Amino acid sequence: MTENKLKVSILGAGYVGCVSAGCLVKDGFEVVAVDPDKYKINAILAGKSPIYEPGLDALIKSGAEEGMLTATDDFKKAVMETDISFCCTGTPSQEDGSLNTGYVRLVSEQIGGAIREKEGRHIVVMRSTILPGTVEKEVIPALEKASGKKVGSDIGLAYYPEFLREGTAIADYYEPGAIVFGQFEDDHVSIEALKSLCGQIDVTPHVIPIRSAEIVKYTNNCWHAVKISFSNEIGNLCKTAGIDSHVVMDVLCADTRLNISKAYMKPGFAYGGSCLPKDLRALRHFGKVNNVATPVLDAAVEANDYQLDRAFRLVNRGGARNVGIFGLTFKPDTDDLRESPMVLLAERLMSKGHKLSIYDPNVSAIDDGGRNFLPHLAGFIKNSAEEVTSEADTIVIGIKNDQIRDAVKNTRDGTNIVDLVRMPIEPQQGVQYEGLVW
Ligand SMILES: NC(=O)c1ccc[n+]([C@@H]2O[C@H](COP(=O)([O-])OP(=O)(O)OC[C@H]3O[C@@H](n4cnc5c(N)ncnc54)[C@H](O)[C@@H]3O)[C@@H](O)[C@H]2O)c1
Repeated sequence: MTENKLKVSILGAGYVGCVSAGCLVKDGFEVVAVDPDKYKINAILAGKSPIYEPGLDALIKSGAEEGMLTATDDFKKAVMETDISFCCTGTPSQEDGSLNTGYVRLVSEQIGGAIREKEGRHIVVMRSTILPGTVEKEVIPALEKASGKKVGSDIGLAYYPEFLREGTAIADYYEPGAIVFGQFEDDHVSIEALKSLCGQIDVTPHVIPIRSAEIVKYTNNCWHAVKISFSNEIGNLCKTAGIDSHVVMDVLCADTRLNISKAYMKPGFAYGGSCLPKDLRALRHFGKVNNVATPVLDAAVEANDYQLDRAFRLVNRGGARNVGIFGLTFKPDTDDLRESPMVLLAERLMSKGHKLSIYDPNVSAIDDGGRNFLPHLAGFIKNSAEEVTSEADTIVIGIKNDQIRDAVKNTRDGTNIVDLVRMPIEPQQGVQYEGLVW
């Protein structure tokens, strides 16, 4: 197996398989396309793309003419004669919405059966869209059972999710927004093989664990769906008010600091404060009086309530305790307590009988006439972080700063820490740590 000379078998000559085949032969790799569908095999053998995709016919034609691309339904022969196999079969929805992994499993069994007799290490690369855990629970057992070999040592394995968009698939192949390689344990060899296949693409791949790669594909597509539905919802609201929605969305997109950026894109606790909850309420109400449904905005509110609920359940499990809370405002470096989800969490814990001690550097127990005073919580507010850590057996971290980080480093043995902000700490022995979304 020499670099740039890998021979590739592609199982599943549909949209993903044919685009991969066309681009790989263009880049100088020998490819065998495998499919049970005779129409697809014959089309490829005749130098035609079995699917319509701009530019693909030309790639398949030259690949077939130069003898770099062939097609067959003999999966065993194809696998035996190649170094690396891509699984590009479909993963359609079943009636209940669950994922049909039947074709992926079948292909894994077929590859496994084919390499039973093969000498040397064959590499298997999943390209189909599959839910987290599919490689571990379905692909690996199928491969190992059918081959009698061990994945990792005898069989290379990786997941390389496909992000192409039909209609611009070839351009997307050479200029992808991202390349993701899911690595199986310490199988660097399979990742290096993938890197050599993608050597023509000027994008550094993200090499991440297989399970993460599996969910990244869904995260991307669901994000695109949410973006489209959000834009459409804004469009509906704008139209009813006689506003040009494209101008509005152009302005939204022009802000690359807060809008089209990494801002607000790290999982964590609920939003709050004096603006987001109020403004969502107002725009949803505006929709209601104008007979425009706002399901995306409604879902944002529901999702926020759910996040608060999850945090509450994490702290509340195991019954009433001495709960120490770090942070009461909705974000660091403000004293504004309006609609802070930390306040809502504290109130809910209080109502369930937890004894609270609270520290927030910007919130005082004394009514100074400012906004940052809540009489019903004032009795629980402490003057120092240490007072909280000395009293609490459960600590909720709702604010990220150095002072709080240092304080939670010195918690007592047996303390439970519930982290809502991903504080950079190494919990000491005897302390139970749990993050809200990590
Ligand atoms: N189409 C897209 O735009 C796109 C983009 C990214 C990811 N994906 C994902 O990639 C996967 C494939 O999608 P697609 O659109 O290319 O599907 P597709 O239905 O076009 O192609 C799948 C092919 O697999 C073949 N096949 C079935 N069983 C086989 C077997 N045992 N051995 C060999 N071939 C077999 C089918 O005959 C078919 O030609 C899916 O998981 C999909 O979600 C698709």
